[in-house]
Parts: sequence; C-alpha cells; structure tokens
Amino acid sequence: MQFRTRAIHVGNAPCPQTGAVVRPIHLASTFVQPGAGKWGEFDYSRSGNPTRGALEATIANLEGGAGAMAFATGMAATTCAIAMLSSGDHVLAGSDIYGGTYRLLHHIASRAGVETSLADSTDLEAFAGALRPNTKLVWIESPGNPQMSITDIAACAEIAHKAGALLGVDNTFATPVLTRPIELGADIVMHSATKYLGGHSDVMGGVLVANSKKMYNDLYFVANATGGIMAPLEAFLCTRGLKTLELRVREQSRTAMQLAKWLAAHPKVSRVLYPGLATHPGHAIAGRQMDGAFGAMMSFEIAGTFDDAKKFAESTKLFQLAVSLGSVESLIEQPASMSHASYDAADREKHGITDGMIRLSVGLEALDDLRDDLEQAFSKK
Ligand SMILES: Cc1ncc(COP(=O)(O)O)c(C=O)c1O
Repeated sequence: MQFRTRAIHVGNAPCPQTGAVVRPIHLASTFVQPGAGKWGEFDYSRSGNPTRGALEATIANLEGGAGAMAFATGMAATTCAIAMLSSGDHVLAGSDIYGGTYRLLHHIASRAGVETSLADSTDLEAFAGALRPNTKLVWIESPGNPQMSITDIAACAEIAHKAGALLGVDNTFATPVLTRPIELGADIVMHSATKYLGGHSDVMGGVLVANSKKMYNDLYFVANATGGIMAPLEAFLCTRGLKTLELRVREQSRTAMQLAKWLAAHPKVSRVLYPGLATHPGHAIAGRQMDGAFGAMMSFEIAGTFDDAKKFAESTKLFQLAVSLGSVESLIEQPASMSHASYDAADREKHGITDGMIRLSVGLEALDDLRDDLEQAFSKK
C-alpha cells in the first residue's frame, strides 16, 4: 500500500468490540491481568497503552522501522536515545541542529560524563575527521535547523558504522513523507511529533523509531525505565494528524517553493536558504534524498541589523510570531533571539546563525495571502 493509505489504515483497524471506525481513547493507567504473575498484552500504561500503541504502529510503518516509541515531547525522545550512552562516550552532532538538542547534549548529557562535539555534517571529510575513538552516537538533522543544510544521510550512516557508532537522525523537518532515514542506513529516527506529525499546533509529542528489533528493545528498556512516554489523548491527536500528513506536507512544500523563489528575487532579501532552490548548496543531495519535494521550512536573511530582523518578524499578521513549526498555521521567528537563543553567541556566529536571519514555517494558507503578508512587513522595515 502507498504511504497515504498506510497513514490512514496501519494501526487503525476498526474497534473489534463496537465496530467504531475511529478507535476509542484508552485512558486507563492499569489493566486487569489474567492471573498473579501472568501478563496480558497490556498491564500498565507507562509500559504500553493501546492508544499509544496504535500511533507507534503507524509511525514505525511509515518510517520503515522495526518498532517505534512515542514520548511526551521531542526532547523526551532525544533524551531517551542519549540515555543509552554511558559516561566516557562521545556524541558527534551536526552543527545545524535544534537549539534544544544542543542544550541537552552540552548542559545535561555532559553532567553524566557524555561528551559532545559539533561538526559540519555537510562536509563529509571534516565530519568523519571529527569522530573520536569513543564516539558512540552520531546525531544529524536534514534539512538542518535553521540553515536548511542538507546532509547526505547514507554517507553519514557509512561513516558512523565504520567507526562503530550508531546514526540517529532527527527527521522532524523532512517527515517520512520526504525522507526515510532508516532506508538510508540510520539506526534511530527521532521526531518532534509536536510539529508535522501532529500538524495542528495542539499537541506536544516525540517519537523514536528503531531500525531493528534489538534497537527497539534497547530503547524500550530506557523509555520504560525513565517514563517520558506520550499520554493517550496526545497519541490520539497524533494518530489523527498522521492521516493527513502526506497531503499537508506536499501542499505546504508547494507553497514554500513558490515563496522561496519570490523571496530570492526580493530586493530587501540578501539570501534565501531553501533546499528546493538550485542556489542552495545541498540542492543536488536533497533532490536524491527527498521524495519529490523540499519541505516547508526556510530561512532568509534581510539586509540590516538584529533590530531590523526583529521588527520584520514582529510585523507579519498571518505568519504568527512563534517558535515551533510544521503546523497548518504559518509561523515566523528570528533564530538568534528565539529557537537558537540557547546557543552560545560564539557558536551562533560560528554556525552562521546571523542576526538578520528569519525562519519561516509555511502553513496551509493560500500562497497569495502569505506573499502579501510578507510584502506588507517588508514595507514597514
Ligand atoms: C528539529 C527539532 N527537533 C527537536 C525538537 C524538540 O521537540 P519538542 O519541542 O517536541 O520537545 C524541535 C522543537 O522545536 C525541533 O524543531
């Protein structure tokens, strides 16, 4: 079955008791056991819950994985993956990663003796050179955040595996509609389900997908032990979101491509970072690695100061000034003061997060309305 059919049907068989086409939300925290010391399919909702399990089955299928786990947030999912490491292990992360992941690695994982270093994952030679004998996990995003950098996932899998490390890919921006990292050799796929998987700015969630049963069991052990799992209502909302994932992502990507072309020709814009543009350094890899579209996230730079960019971001009306992304509503933000404020200033500069940078999450509104909104904001700058 094709992706959009599986998104609707896998994990979502009608309720066997009532025939309900949409399964009920199982809020129960605990389940009656067949006998003392005997276990049914479910016993306690931290360990497994039918509503969460349905979502996990769908997302594992869409990512082509052996199993998935749903968490309360994307950061809880990443924390679970990092918690597989031990003191003395090293994480090599791409330099264009989400600010919260940077903070988790540098300021929390470091307390447990896990070291992290960042390197440019688009420069494969430099990235491979940054591996250390104790590197156990390589962590990348493609498209990266906020530069929309494109990393060759298959090449990184080879680099990581040669060094005896696992490859984890934060697939939040691309979604499995456009990129399926496990098919490209990744061991773990992570999502902030808060974004495209939920898709409507009304749910917080995270997901890990494992490439093998063994990896699933290893991650499940940590997830069950640490307890950052997704609650049933959120799982229901994510399941509902997944049913329209492909339609949303393809349509939002179409609008994003048109906006990127328009911005690239705009006199007040000095640079547009969108992998769909031939000028983007990752365009060729994105063309191979992304399935027929380039996503709905983009960044651009406006000529001027930090305050000019801030004023611009505060002047749009349809594009709402908010962090997060991937929803039907278009959002705008200034990475230097918002999503990437947790980077040290020196690291921001080193990784090209400029003061004039603006990031857009293009939603499902009409192209003309979004373009008019940006134009009126330019006129105020
Ligand atoms: C790429 C990416 N990864 C991870 C996260 C963290 O997810 P959450 O906010 O659901 O914890 C975010 C959130 O913005 C993100 O954009």
